[in-house]
Amino acid sequence: MKVLFATSEIAPWVKTGGLGDVAAALPQALVAAGAELRVLVPGYPPLRAAFPKAKRIARFDTLGGAWPACNLLEAQRSDGVPFWLLDCPELFDRPGSPYLGPEGIDWLDNHLRYGLLSRVAARLASHASPLDWRPDILHCHDWQTALAPYYLRLYEGGGAASVLTIHNLAFQGVFPATVLTELGLGAADWHIDGVEYYGTLSFLKAGLRHADALTTVSPTYAREIQTETEGMGLQGLLQTRADELTGILNGIDTAVWNPATDTLLSKNYDRAHLDGKAVCKAALQAQVGLDARKDCPLFGVVSRLTAQKGLDLVSDIGAALVDLPAQLVVLGSGDKALEAAFRDLAATYPQQVAVTIGFDEALAHRIEAGADLFLMPSRFEPCGLNQMYSLAYGTPPLVRATGGLADTVVNCSPAGLADGSANGFVCQEATAELILATARWAAEVWADKKRWRQLQKNAMAGDYSWTGPAQRYLQLYRSLRPA
Ligand code: ADP
Ligand code: GLC
Repeated sequence: MKVLFATSEIAPWVKTGGLGDVAAALPQALVAAGAELRVLVPGYPPLRAAFPKAKRIARFDTLGGAWPACNLLEAQRSDGVPFWLLDCPELFDRPGSPYLGPEGIDWLDNHLRYGLLSRVAARLASHASPLDWRPDILHCHDWQTALAPYYLRLYEGGGAASVLTIHNLAFQGVFPATVLTELGLGAADWHIDGVEYYGTLSFLKAGLRHADALTTVSPTYAREIQTETEGMGLQGLLQTRADELTGILNGIDTAVWNPATDTLLSKNYDRAHLDGKAVCKAALQAQVGLDARKDCPLFGVVSRLTAQKGLDLVSDIGAALVDLPAQLVVLGSGDKALEAAFRDLAATYPQQVAVTIGFDEALAHRIEAGADLFLMPSRFEPCGLNQMYSLAYGTPPLVRATGGLADTVVNCSPAGLADGSANGFVCQEATAELILATARWAAEVWADKKRWRQLQKNAMAGDYSWTGPAQRYLQLYRSLRPA
């Protein structure tokens, strides 16, 4: 099974969230399961720097649209998965976030940047590819590559079967109608079964309509996005494609996220030797400047600071959390008002609340290990990786019952503790009152050391690896391209 995996981010080089982690780990797991992969990703500066010897294997002079000529370079990752870097300095040689300019606003030519990525993906998956290596499957991710199935079917004359994975329906790649011709498209594409979406052009909509199979990153989210409340305007289209839509829960990269081997921690620990976790807590408190308290739980947050994650509610109850008593450590960036609210909270309670605004991979690991509980009360959550990192690190997550959080976290009820299924805390609604009530309950359980140990051990016993999910993707690929 040959798979071309097209992605706009890949950890550790370019990552804004979970997609970067998935794009790094899933290809490896698919290769281990017997598939042959090529990962297509823009040649952003960190990737060009990491693979200076990448060799040119193709050149695209005329793809239509308003695109400059570009090259395809091949590089070899240390695990042996070949990378295809889309080299187009005019579009990708820019510092910082892949999507945002220095002012924190989307690059104005993102339609061209990800339109080109989609177009090249389609060409490489088609009968017209300039390369000998032809994939059976083109696997695309989110809006950034969602035009590829459309180009493949309507402009490249077909080839591989296409799969589009929805990591987050909130990002739909919507642009003004005026970009149509820049993307090499024309009047014939401007209709409900094409790229038109309520008078605008949507990458995601076209992909959802034309990919051979659709997946999303948890079974619950697959159901939710077909409803009016969670479908973000696309529920009608998703309902018509319900038979081709499956939810496959993400895994985590157990080589990167494993408390027994994590080199970023002060002390390693595992399920049978949890003592090291207390050392990690003390080190974290010292690093972020919190009092070295042992008498109250430390809640951790690592997140994009956006409405999706429900963290405005956490900032609203900040004072009440401190009163429990509890401590809070936050790492994140995003919404400026929310960043300011967390900064204010830390200024008011410097011994109990520490806030780091920014993106810091090492601190993220240290929070997963050093916090007692992980807070993730998302309003919606397609899958969520952080709650799984927390489970693996013996840091029971407090989540809202939505999407992948509902599929991975089992509430700490007496029955759940008794039968070994409880691994965290689940509140049904994202309201400040319910989150606080759940946090109060969690602090009570934390104070009972025996019950707490049990909960941690249940959490750490789970299998969060990519092995199972990779098999499910392979099964899906085989259903589209039987041998
Ligand atoms: P999403 O993709 O919606 O942001 P996920 O839970 O799937 O949520 O994945 C988020 C990923 O991004 C995790 O690997 C998390 O550790 C990382 N992350 C988010 N914010 C930060 C940050 N400020 N610093 C370091 N890592 C972060
Ligand atoms: C998205 C979602 C997140 C998911 C990640 C990886 O960013 O918001 O829930 O875990 O993609 O699939």
